[in-house]
Amino acid sequence: MPVKNSTPKETYLKDYKPAPYTVDSIFLTFDLDPENTTATSQLSLRRSQKEQDGHPLFLNGEDIELFSIKNNGTVLPKGTYKIEKEGLTIFEPPEVLNLEIKTGLKPSKNTRLSGLYETGGILCTQNEAEGFRRITFFPDRPDVMTKFTTKIIASKDKYPILLSNGNLIEESDLPNGKHYAVWEDPFLKPCYLYALVAGNLGLIKSTFKTQSNRTIELRIYCDKGSEDKCQHAMNSLKKAMRWDEEKFGREYDLDLFMIVAVSAFNFGAMENKGLNIFNSNAILVDPETATDDNFMRVEKVVAHEYFHNWTGNRITLRDWFQLTLKEGLTVYRDQEFTADMHYRGIARIEDVFYLRKNQFPEDAGPTSHPIKPASYIQIDNFYTTTIYYKGAEVVRMIESLLGKEDFKKGMEKYFLDYDGKAITTEDFVKSFDKIGAADLKAFSKWYTQAGTPEISLRFDYDDNEEEFILEIDQIASSSSKEKEPFLFPLAVGFIDISGKPLRAKIANAREVGTTYILTVSKKRERFAFKNIPKTAVPSLNRGFSAPIKITAPYEKEDLLHIMEYDEDSFTRWDASQELYKRILFEMVKDLKDGRKPLPDLELYEAFNSILTEENLESGYKACLLTLPTESEMADAQEIIDFEANHIARELLKESLGLWFFEPMLKMYKALARKKEYVIDTESMGLRKLKSTLLGYLMASRKPDAIRLCYEQFRTANNMTDQFSALTLLQNSFCPERKEVLDSFYNQWKGNGLVLCKWFMAQSQSTLKDTQGLVESLLNHPAYDDKIPNNVRALLGTFIQNLPQFHHKSGSGYRLIADQILKIDKFNPHVSSGLVQGFKLYSKVDPLRKAMMQKEMERIISDDNLSPNVYELVSKCLNSAPKS
Ligand code: TRP
Ligand code: ZN
Repeated sequence: MPVKNSTPKETYLKDYKPAPYTVDSIFLTFDLDPENTTATSQLSLRRSQKEQDGHPLFLNGEDIELFSIKNNGTVLPKGTYKIEKEGLTIFEPPEVLNLEIKTGLKPSKNTRLSGLYETGGILCTQNEAEGFRRITFFPDRPDVMTKFTTKIIASKDKYPILLSNGNLIEESDLPNGKHYAVWEDPFLKPCYLYALVAGNLGLIKSTFKTQSNRTIELRIYCDKGSEDKCQHAMNSLKKAMRWDEEKFGREYDLDLFMIVAVSAFNFGAMENKGLNIFNSNAILVDPETATDDNFMRVEKVVAHEYFHNWTGNRITLRDWFQLTLKEGLTVYRDQEFTADMHYRGIARIEDVFYLRKNQFPEDAGPTSHPIKPASYIQIDNFYTTTIYYKGAEVVRMIESLLGKEDFKKGMEKYFLDYDGKAITTEDFVKSFDKIGAADLKAFSKWYTQAGTPEISLRFDYDDNEEEFILEIDQIASSSSKEKEPFLFPLAVGFIDISGKPLRAKIANAREVGTTYILTVSKKRERFAFKNIPKTAVPSLNRGFSAPIKITAPYEKEDLLHIMEYDEDSFTRWDASQELYKRILFEMVKDLKDGRKPLPDLELYEAFNSILTEENLESGYKACLLTLPTESEMADAQEIIDFEANHIARELLKESLGLWFFEPMLKMYKALARKKEYVIDTESMGLRKLKSTLLGYLMASRKPDAIRLCYEQFRTANNMTDQFSALTLLQNSFCPERKEVLDSFYNQWKGNGLVLCKWFMAQSQSTLKDTQGLVESLLNHPAYDDKIPNNVRALLGTFIQNLPQFHHKSGSGYRLIADQILKIDKFNPHVSSGLVQGFKLYSKVDPLRKAMMQKEMERIISDDNLSPNVYELVSKCLNSAPKS
C-alpha cells in the first residue's frame, strides 16, 4: 500500500489542557454576500493559565482569508504572528488582547456545509463540531464560552430576514438597498452553538406560556410556500417544552425560540442557542408528502434539539471526547418523550430494534469505539450510533440501577451543580451519588470499553431449597480486547405454567412489581430466587435493561410461553425475535447443507396466535409479526453469508405469506376499508399493521397480492400508504413495478424531499437489476449530490441493502468507492458517511474481502483524501489480516 506522506494527526483525550486564554466577549459584524462576505470580529481575550506566560497564542482558522488583524486598534506588525493551514499564531501575546479580525468568506463556494454556506438562496451556518473556525479566527473549542453579539448587514431585497442567537436589539435600513439587524445572546456559550441565518423565508408563529407564566414567542422559518408543512413541528415543539417542564423541571430561558428549515444540511438538525437549524426533512410534513415515520421523526428531532437547550447548551462539553454527555443524554430524553407521547412499550421496541440493527454491528466492526473515545482524527466521524444510542442506553442503565425517584433527584442535582459549565461525563455520573463509589468505578467501564458485552446464562434448580438459580457468565464483548466485566442492571421475572407472574424472594435486588432488577458486576455470578417452582419460565432483560447480547438455555416452548404470557411487552417481542432468528438460522444451515428448508410447525402456531389475538394493539402486533433484519442476522455470524441470509429470510416470509394468505387478506381488507386518514398513535399503528400484512401477501408472490398493492398505490390518500405500496412493488418483477415508479415521479417531480423517497424505493429493491438502476439514477436530473439528503437516499440506502451492495461480483464496492472519492472532493462529511458500507470488512468471506480491500486501497491512496475518509478507511483496512 502506498504510504501517504502526511498522515492526518490524531487528538488524544489524555492530552486535554484547559484553554490558555478565555474570551470575555465577541462582537461579530457580517457584511453578507454569497460570493464575498466580510466577517469582522472584535474579541477580548484574557490569559487564564499562569503557566502560559510567554507561550504563543493560537487561534483556529480554516479556509478563510485574513484581511486584517489589529490589537487595541493597531495593525499587528509583520513577524509578530503567522498564518498556517490550521490557524493563526500570535507570538509573545500580552495578558489581555483586544483584537479586531477581518476575514473574507465565500458562502456560495462552501460545499462542505460547515461554517457559513448558501443553500436554496438562504445563507446559514453550521458550526458543530468545528465550523466556527471557517468563519473567523477563534479558540474553537467547547470549553471557551463567551457572550456573542452579532450585527448582520445584507441586501434587504434578497435577505429580508436576518437572524442570529438571542434577542433582536436593533434593526434599520441602510443606503443602497441594504439593511441590518443586531442580535445579542445574553447566555454564555461555546462557538459551536453560534448561528446566523439570512434569507427570504416563509414563517409560522405561535406562543408558549411557561410554567412560571412567561410568554415565549415561537417561530418556524422555511421556504416560501412550505409554511403549511410546519404545523406539526410547531405542535411538537410545544409538547416538548411542556414535557421538559413536567418531567425535568426545565423551563425555556430566552423570550424567543426559532427554527429554520434548510434543504442542504449534513445532519438531521442543530441545537444552536435560540436558533435551531434543521434539515428540511426533519421539519416539513403533511399527509400527502410525508409518511407516519416522517411525522414521528419530526416530533422526535424537534424535541431532541429543544432538549439540548439544557443538556448541551446550558450545560456543555469540556471537550469533544465528552460528546455523549450531551448526545447520549439528549437521546435518552427524546426517547422518554416519545414513549410518553405514544405507546411506551412500542417505543422501547423500536429503540432496541434500531440499536441492534445499527449500533451492534458498528460495535462489532473495525470502527468500534467506546461512548467516550480516547482519540480521534476527525471528531465529525464520532457522531455515531454508539455515541448517540449506546450512550442513551448507558443513561437508561443508571436510571434502572437507581430507580426512577433517585434518578430524578440525580438529574436535579446535575442541573443545579453544572449550569453554565463545560464539563465531563465523570461529572455527570457523579451527580448520581446514590450509586456507591465501588459500583461507580465498575460502571465507568461503559464509557471506556468498546464492544457489546456477551452474557451466557444457565438455569439451575435447587430442589431442597426450592430455589431457581440463575448463573451469569460475562464471556466476552464483541470487539474489545480488554475483558473487564461490566456492571449492569438485569431485570428478571418469572412466569408460571399457566402464564401468571410469580413473586420471588431474593436479596439484593430492586423490586418493581414482579420484576427483580439485579446488579451484575462479576465475570461469573449466581443469583438464587426463592418461591419459584421448577416449572417456571424466567423472563430476562425485561425492558432491555442492559444493551447486551444474551445466550440463554431456552427451548422453543419457553420462547412461545414468554411470547404468549409475559407481562413485559418488550420481552414478549424479544422472544418472538429470538424464535424467528433460530428458525432463520436453521434454514440457513439447511441451505448450506443442500437441504430444502422445511416450514416449522411451532412457528406457524405462534404466528397464528399473534394474528388472531384480539387484544393486541395494532402497532404492537406489527412489531411481533416483523422478522429480524438481515443486518441482525449478519451480526450473529462470524463470517457473514449474505446470500443464504437473504434467501432464508425471503423464503420464510414467502411461506408465512402463503400459509396465512387467506386470514391475512381478510385482515388487510378490513384495515384497507378504513379510508379516513387520521394522524394519531392508534391510526399509525393500524397503517403499520396494514403494510406489514401487505408485505407478507406480496411475499407470497400471488398475482392477487400484486393487484392489491397496485390498488393501494393508486387509491392512497396519504404518503404512508402510497410509499409502502411503491416500495413493495419494487421487489417484484411485474409491469406494475415500473408503472408506479413513473407515476410517482410524475406526481412529485419538483418536490425534492418526496423524490428522495423515489430514490430510496429503488435502491432498497431486492431485485437483481438494483445496482444498475442506482448507477443510472446518479445521472438523473433530480439527483444532486450537493444535497446530502439525495446521497443518503440513493447511496446510503444502497449500502444498507446487504445482498446488493455485497454482491459477489464486487461491483457494489466499486460503485461506492467511486462515489466516496467523487463526493470527498466537496463534502467529506457525506463521503465518510458512505464508508459505513465497508464496516463489515472483518466479517466477509475471503473473496469479498479481497475485493473490498482493493477498493479501500484505491480510496486511501488518493492524494487529496480528506482526513475524515482516511480515518475510517484506515481503521477498516487495519481491522483484518490482509487476504
Ligand atoms: N448536535 C446535532 C444533534 O443534535 C448534531 C449535528 C448537527 C452535527 N449538525 C452536524 C454533527 C454537523 C456533525 C456535523 O444531533
Ligand atoms: Zn443531539
